[in-house]
Parts: sequence; structure tokens; C-alpha cells
Amino acid sequence: METFKLKIDDRQINAGGGDTVLQAALKAGIYIPNLCYDPRLAPYGGCRMCIVEIEGTRGFPAACTTRASDGMVVKTYGPQLDRLRLDTLELLLSDHPTDCLTCPGNQRCELQKVASFLGYNQRSLKPRKSDHPIDDSNPFFNLDRNYCVLCARCVRTCDEVTGINAIELINRGDESRVSTFAGSRLAESECRSCGECMVSCPVGAIHAKNSPVATEETATICPYCGVGCGIYLGTRQGKIVSVRGNEASPSNRGSLCVKGRFGINEFVHHSERLKSPRVKKEGGFESAEWEEALRIAGDKLSGYKPEEVAVIASAKATNEDNYVLQKFTRAVLGTNNIDHCARL
Ligand code: SF4
Ligand code: SF4
Ligand code: SF4
Ligand code: FES
Repeated sequence: METFKLKIDDRQINAGGGDTVLQAALKAGIYIPNLCYDPRLAPYGGCRMCIVEIEGTRGFPAACTTRASDGMVVKTYGPQLDRLRLDTLELLLSDHPTDCLTCPGNQRCELQKVASFLGYNQRSLKPRKSDHPIDDSNPFFNLDRNYCVLCARCVRTCDEVTGINAIELINRGDESRVSTFAGSRLAESECRSCGECMVSCPVGAIHAKNSPVATEETATICPYCGVGCGIYLGTRQGKIVSVRGNEASPSNRGSLCVKGRFGINEFVHHSERLKSPRVKKEGGFESAEWEEALRIAGDKLSGYKPEEVAVIASAKATNEDNYVLQKFTRAVLGTNNIDHCARL
């Protein structure tokens, strides 16, 4: 890959072919405030937070939509830049709630980070209260447009990452908002509940219904299907409380489907989860030891002809276990009646 040098804030840095000024700066550890930037998405240039000065260029281009080039000289701060950014932030915050402590995005909110970086500490515009109804129709996350900063990351993620296009930015100016087709609630829309939009949302506008903060994370693999997505299981006091995609995993590069993202916590800790084999006794099922259950299954199976038996393998088992099961079915039970569910 072609590499070249440019100067950002008097620091000589290396950049790679295709890097934008924002990417080159972030890679070199230089923070430029940004809100609508998501490395997974095509450059957008909507929030105007990442404006910079570039020697020989008029105005204040957005660093996220400007390609870095050899010999470029960039300034990321200065009296005019700081003033313009603060004015943009002021407009953004003019109808934004200020209850940060009770906001579901608290502590992971990128707007807080930008405001704190810019030293924002006083409103100069009269606040306007927005009172959009919360869409809580989705079982896993809410859409609260009152917190929305219209960065379109959710919309672009639903298009560019998932390809579903369930949501869109509609209307203009004050009336702009995230909407589904025909304005239906999320649960009645094309939305597949994957939560990718929620992950991309930089504020608390799209937030999980239940999201206690994990105190520990363990890298593992989603157990639900053969794709084998890399995940981080977040735990707190011995219980799984969150799941996030592992961006370093080649199977999914951080993305997850609804099962992997929202189907693990409740399943693992569900009060009705089967934790031991069950044997039918006098009309009802009772828990049994593995030894007893296997003996009963063995006795029953030996009483059937091969063509009367069928076996279903599981995507939740390892490849090795599934291999042994098909071998057992064919070689011991004497039947080819074996199938497999790759999608649980
Ligand atoms: S949950 Fe997935 S499908 Fe639904 S709107 Fe968000 S990104 Fe689109
Ligand atoms: S809901 Fe979140 S991601 Fe979507 S436009 Fe609003 S702030 Fe951006
Ligand atoms: S169930 Fe979904 S998240 Fe889990 S491995 Fe399959 S595709 Fe990935
Ligand atoms: S991050 Fe560049 S314009 Fe929003």
C-alpha cells in the first residue's frame, strides 16, 4: 500500500493510500471532534464537527470527507475553527436534553466527548424542548428521537452494513427525523432487530432496553450458528449482561445478528433452561443423570429398525461432536437419516 507523509498540527505523520485526513489523524493519536464518522461507513460529512484548515485550500473542509495527500499541511484547531465548532455544537444542543446522568448513552456518548473536548460549559441559545414519542416497540432496543443528533449513522449502517434499509432520514430542517418506511413503528417495519444501528448511534437515541454495564469481558464465539461470529461476553457479578461483536474476528468484523447480540443473556440465565437430561416417567418429564438417560436411550434405540430412527445434529455442538454423531448414526444405528440445523 502506498504511504506518504503529511503534517497535522505541526506533527509529521504517515498516512496510507485511501486514508482521509480524519483517519490519518486518529491513527496518529490526534483527536479531531467527530460525530457522524463511523469507520465501517462511507464518508458522509454531515455533522461538521471535524472541520480543519488545510494550507492552500479555501474554507474549512470536513476532515472525514477529505482525502489525505502527500505534503498536506493541516491544522485541527485555532480561534476560528474552535468558534465554528462551538457554534455548530450549540445549534445541535439547542433541542437536546441535558439529563446526561439518566440518559441511556451516558459514559459512552460521543456528544459528551465532543462537548467536553471543546470546553462547552454554557448554553447561549434558549433551549427548545423536543417531545417525540419513544418507539419502544422493538423487544430489544428503543428509539428515542429526542436524543437524536441526526448524524445518519444508524440509517447508513442499516444500508451499508446490513443491507436491510429499514430506516431513513425523512423531512427537512426542524422536522428531520429517523423513520421507518411509512412511519411505522420498528416492530412493524422491515427491521430485523440486529442492533447494528444501536451500536453505531453515537448518543443515547438508540439504546438497549436492558444494559447494565459489564465489569469484565471475555472473547469467545457465538454459539448459535455455523458462521461462528466473534463476540465479547460482558459479565457482571457472575452473570452475562451484554454481548458485543469482535471487530477483529474475520467471520463478522464486529457485526452480529439478532440471535448473537440479544439471544444469549436471557437464554443462559433463563429459569426454564434445561441443564440436565430429562426422562419421561409416568407421563411427565423428570431430570435424570446422564448415565441413566444414555442407558434408556440406548435400550430404546436398539428396539427400533434403522429406517425407523432419525437423528438431528446441532449447530451448537462442535464440528468434532457433529462428526462423531453422523458416524454413530451411520455406522452404529445403520441409517442415513441424519440432518442438521445450521440456524437455531
Ligand atoms: S436493528 Fe438492524 S435492521 Fe433494524 S433498523 Fe437497526 S440496523 Fe436496521
Ligand atoms: S438515531 Fe443515533 S445514529 Fe441515528 S441519526 Fe440519530 S443520533 Fe445518529
Ligand atoms: S447466530 Fe448470528 S451472531 Fe451468532 S454466529 Fe450466527 S450469524 Fe453470527
Ligand atoms: S465527522 Fe466529519 S462531518 Fe461529521
